[in-house]
Amino acid sequence: MDTTQTILVTGATGTVGRRIADELVRRGHRVRALTRDPASAAAARLPDAVDAVRGDLTDPAGLAPALAGVDALHLITFGGEMFAPLQTGPEIVGLARAAGVRRITVLHGGGPSPLETAVRDSALDWTVVMPVEFMANALEWAEPIRTADTVEEPFTGRLSAMVHEADIGAVTAVALTEDGHAGREYLITGPQSLTLQDKVDALAAARGRAIRLVELSEEEARKRWAAAGQPQEVIDFLIQVYRDTPPEGKNVTDVVEKVTGRPARTFTDWAREHAAAFRV
Ligand SMILES: NC(=O)c1ccc[n+]([C@@H]2O[C@H](COP(=O)([O-])OP(=O)(O)OC[C@H]3O[C@@H](n4cnc5c(N)ncnc54)[C@H](OP(=O)(O)O)[C@@H]3O)[C@@H](O)[C@H]2O)c1
Repeated sequence: MDTTQTILVTGATGTVGRRIADELVRRGHRVRALTRDPASAAAARLPDAVDAVRGDLTDPAGLAPALAGVDALHLITFGGEMFAPLQTGPEIVGLARAAGVRRITVLHGGGPSPLETAVRDSALDWTVVMPVEFMANALEWAEPIRTADTVEEPFTGRLSAMVHEADIGAVTAVALTEDGHAGREYLITGPQSLTLQDKVDALAAARGRAIRLVELSEEEARKRWAAAGQPQEVIDFLIQVYRDTPPEGKNVTDVVEKVTGRPARTFTDWAREHAAAFRV
């Protein structure tokens, strides 16, 4: 019996989607990566086995060819500038049903999502994957660490159970291709709850050079993010979750191990894999 499935991954040129595609290929499945620009550098970095197909989630009418013959579909909830929530969920879900798609995963985006609602309301076997903070967010520190051996942040004592992107990919790949995950919401975390100092120490050990962690006041952080072009609502959101991180952002879950059968990757693992980005 051929157990190879065909999966359409949206967001596949991005941080999480790329890891979902990698894991599906590793498991021997056929992967189509939806991208608005198959000729882009991001699309070029996909594994050779992945078929990059053109499509835009804000224009569902054009998605039919990408969905033809697909067994399972991974969806992002945004499209366009500044992660604007997609309004095209019902059309996309309708097309998926018409194409014979059986399973859908959705990468939860944090806020209200008409697309996620449409998926949850559908008769398809859906799973919502809800990762906490990505370990990859530490790449925002690569430049100040390379140039000044320094990280400057507010609320440095805050805890985060941040998760390795490969583990989000692994959980999602299982939910897309195996039974037993329909109607589930998976809160995906790493194996430890760490402070910023813990993270900076792990990066310093991985790159072989010390890093100074400097505490910014809330006002300094607000000014800096505003100067970097962050919208006011994003700044308010960051301050709120940094000051008073909700339990789901800092409490460790066992989802990775339960779903994939292997322990969640640590931030030390992540730092070693990405050490070059933090060296001059
Ligand atoms: N960062 C965190 O700590 C964190 C934590 C939890 C959840 N999240 C959620 O994770 C999501 C971001 O995921 P990510 O970091 O993997 O994304 P990302 O690296 O920013 O990549 C964006 C992806 O979206 C695709 N895309 C954007 N608009 C599109 C459209 N109109 N049609 C088709 N594809 C489109 C892009 O494809 P092309 O450019 O190739 O078309 C690209 O693959 C957000 O929903 C965020 O809320 C983030």
